[in-house]
Amino acid sequence: MLPNRTLLTLLRTSLLLMPLLFTNVLWAQNQLFIPEVISGEDIDLEIQEGTHEFFQGYTTATMGVNGDVLGPTILLEKGQQVTMNVHNQLPEATTVHWHGLHVSSENDGGPHTPIEPDETWSPSFTVLDRASTYWYHPHLHQKTEKHVTMGISGLIIVSDEEESQLDLPRTYGMDDLPLIIQTKEFKSDKQIVTFAHADSVVMVNATVDPYVEVPAQVIRLRLLNGSSMRSFNLGLTDDQSFYQVASDGGLLSSPVELDRLLLAPAERAEILINLSDLQGQTIHLKSYASELPDGIFGAKYPGINQDSTLNRYDPNPLNGNDFNIMQLNITLTSDNAVTEIPSALVNVTPWNEADADTSRTFRLNSRVLPDQLNHPFYINDEDFAMDKINEVIPLDNLEIWSITNETAIAHPFHVHMIQFYILDRNGVIPPEQERGRKDVVFVHPMETVRFITKFETYTNPDIPYMYHCHMLIHEDEGMMGQFLVVDKATGIEGQDSHIPQHVYLEQNYPNPFNPGTIIGFELPEPTPVQLEIFDVLGRRVALLVDEFIPAGKHEVSWDASRVSGGTYFYRLTAGDFIQTKQMMMLK
Ligand code: C2O
Ligand code: CU
Ligand code: CU
Repeated sequence: MLPNRTLLTLLRTSLLLMPLLFTNVLWAQNQLFIPEVISGEDIDLEIQEGTHEFFQGYTTATMGVNGDVLGPTILLEKGQQVTMNVHNQLPEATTVHWHGLHVSSENDGGPHTPIEPDETWSPSFTVLDRASTYWYHPHLHQKTEKHVTMGISGLIIVSDEEESQLDLPRTYGMDDLPLIIQTKEFKSDKQIVTFAHADSVVMVNATVDPYVEVPAQVIRLRLLNGSSMRSFNLGLTDDQSFYQVASDGGLLSSPVELDRLLLAPAERAEILINLSDLQGQTIHLKSYASELPDGIFGAKYPGINQDSTLNRYDPNPLNGNDFNIMQLNITLTSDNAVTEIPSALVNVTPWNEADADTSRTFRLNSRVLPDQLNHPFYINDEDFAMDKINEVIPLDNLEIWSITNETAIAHPFHVHMIQFYILDRNGVIPPEQERGRKDVVFVHPMETVRFITKFETYTNPDIPYMYHCHMLIHEDEGMMGQFLVVDKATGIEGQDSHIPQHVYLEQNYPNPFNPGTIIGFELPEPTPVQLEIFDVLGRRVALLVDEFIPAGKHEVSWDASRVSGGTYFYRLTAGDFIQTKQMMMLK
């Protein structure tokens, strides 16, 4: 028996309606949470534990800043002075790092500046950065993933004169939306799982299944991939186009029309969407993860060696499948709406490759053979250590860094202190949207990315900056290295001494590839002398002199080619004269 015509029509109609019902009504249940803003010269941040209702009827333990989860959006103006008063109410130490901001290493909030429970850390600095979207998050070694995944993250919006002269949407929460996109794994009792690969719950601003009402005009989305591990292949319903206007550290020279945007962990992008003709309609921000090539955490196979039997990345329903991230319900046009995409933005002037002072190479590798897919990962085959300085960089050095990914999975490589310009990917100039300022670059398997950057403004011979993979499990496991930026003139640091003229030190500075060092001293009379070299842990690495030495000037050379770069101390004992000085070993 065949169904009659009416039934068939009904059946067709309901089949057509089903997806609409699911995406428009059932799917998006929760109004997007918009973090409050905080601004001024004194910013108080309370790091605390809390609870949050990600799922109706379930209380989930969280960590947040000035609240239960995430943190306020910090508004800063280029050129202003700011003091951040970060009070740690957690029962354990943490740090807060200003990701992307150009600050001194003591103010950077990296793993060397822990804030103990109930302590307050108050870095104070001038905002030197260009208008863009930055963020802050904890960075205690081996605890970064935990603290971020539990909920500590917030955006920093920097404005400047150039940006404010452009006709861009900038009404926060109305046509200018802060969006922290994350995925998390939850246990069956809806508690957050840390160090997870089964991150199957998608959220924006800690809102699961979010919808937001937006006006029918040009809107600006400030996107942060705040996930610990996952990359998103962002796009809109029906491949509607959008325009990227900013990368990590600043506006692009002009808007770049796109229908997909690959956003790796810690990357930011500002996009404009023209909704002028869409009043009353509903669209979705999605991840078209089915289109991701293998070799990305988010694709069907996180590694390019998909038949690996040793794959430590658990299967995940989000891998290789398209999914919704947020629903946009388009309402009335607001007053003073921006209705057009601007044609030009700002001057972007990368440094010239020919002017570079130094090149450095970094290889991303795994020791888990044979497939190079599984963590722990390393950089240049070296174990990360808090007391090991991997690179020493003279102030104002213009450098080309070349990052080669020898593993089977893509890694987002991040450098503190600086913004860089990508020169090429496997020798090819990057697409337009990657020609602006960046502090994270996604390096695909078997790819070499070169970028150019300059280490300006700040030196500190003791506290290093970090470079690392921003997949937080990789980072916590040691896919990280450290660099010092040192003053060219005082690259050799001396402590005050009571007889300073007796000891001087020369190094073949600033050539960073020659560690040959000459230590000189002058004796007023014949004296028994000991000259020793210590590393930062106080271990003696060399005994250069241990004998009775005649009066006069003496020079002792130390071949440091077998020790790693970083800080060392030499101690001269001449009779009852003892002096210890610090020195930098450049490699
Ligand atoms: Cu987002 Cu080392 O940081
Ligand atoms: Cu950073
Ligand atoms: Cu990684």
